[in-house]
Amino acid sequence: MKIILNYFLLTTICLISISCSQEEVKLKQYYVDGQALYKMHCANCHQENGQGLAGLYPPIAGSDFLKKNKDLVLCSMRNGLKDTIVVNGKTYHQPMPANTQLQALDVAEIATYIYNEWGNEKVITDVKSVQKVLEDCKK
Ligand code: HEC
Repeated sequence: MKIILNYFLLTTICLISISCSQEEVKLKQYYVDGQALYKMHCANCHQENGQGLAGLYPPIAGSDFLKKNKDLVLCSMRNGLKDTIVVNGKTYHQPMPANTQLQALDVAEIATYIYNEWGNEKVITDVKSVQKVLEDCKK
């Protein structure tokens, strides 16, 4: 009985740790790809350190808007954003251009990068959930 129990415990622990490490590998992959995509498509305006640019481009690092409006942020990456928004108490009203070449996976990877780097998240924004959100963006 004890042997069986030990065996059971061992396989359970292994299963858990394997799935954990796979998840970690996937998160790293998303993060690294997302960082490269961010530098290519976003850093021009929001800067590599996410601080934004004076009164023109809002900061992503430490942004309260980022945390409160995730679906809108995902949609904005692809469709742009033309609104008056308040980020950390400051008003911005320059338009953010659309970037329709970004695929759902690109958006998911960029979101994983910015939300882990600057949004206190420790998880993947996975491509399936992004696909759903992108289908429901306001036209
Ligand atoms: C040409 C400059 C430009 C580019 C490129 C750009 N943005 Fe923006 N972004 C803006 C502006 C301007 C706003 C404010 C839009 C408004 O007021 O309606 C904004 C708003 C945002 C916001 C919401 C406000 C905040 O700071 O939390 C996020 C998040 C964001 N952008 C992320 C991104 C990401 C990710 C990319 C790359 C896929 C990107 N942006 C590319 C200019 C840009």
